[in-house]
Amino acid sequence: MNFAVLASGKGSNLKAMIDAIRNGQIKAELKVVISDKKEAFCLEHARKALIPAIFIDPKDFKDREAFDKAVIDCLVKHQVDFVVLAGYMRLLSSFFLKQYPNKVLNIHPALLPSFKGTHAIQEAFDYGVKLTGPTVHFVTEAMDEGPIILQEAIEIKPKDTLESMAEKIHNAEHKIYPQAIDLFVRGKLKVEGRKVIVL
Ligand code: GRF
Repeated sequence: MNFAVLASGKGSNLKAMIDAIRNGQIKAELKVVISDKKEAFCLEHARKALIPAIFIDPKDFKDREAFDKAVIDCLVKHQVDFVVLAGYMRLLSSFFLKQYPNKVLNIHPALLPSFKGTHAIQEAFDYGVKLTGPTVHFVTEAMDEGPIILQEAIEIKPKDTLESMAEKIHNAEHKIYPQAIDLFVRGKLKVEGRKVIVL
């Protein structure tokens, strides 16, 4: 199977996937990394691993669907079977999701359905949660709402700071995202309504 990563940021999850491919945990080929941010460090990780790293500038397109069409052209060109979002700061259009039904994965840094949105770690910290952790889910049109594949709960101790909590969450992300991708690649995930059955 071939896949693509869409990312907008530093790319630590992308790096974890590249490592998981190298060590044989993920038996799929990462064909292309696409970013909507020219200077994003994720593109650097891709280049270092000799994976095509492509910047597509949202400013060149009239709306989200037109941008997504350009992304899809690139995915088709690279014969991608599924798509992995890793810190991708854009919502996907329904046009995009129709091309890849139940074939787009995302990771969110909180235990969904708690703390949806872009400030999940800060909000969970401020709320004083005792447990938090990342969620890998299939992407649907509503933000952070698709069927849940894997979650990992992490205990937050009184001495934890925002920084130490974020570090624990990111470490867990780097573990469960490759696990989820491996399950997907081996055909072990069956979506039944809201539920993902791990076969
Ligand atoms: C991660 O915390 C992920 O949960 C969220 O965006 C962040 C991306 O980090 N969706 P990185 O770019 O993979 O380091």
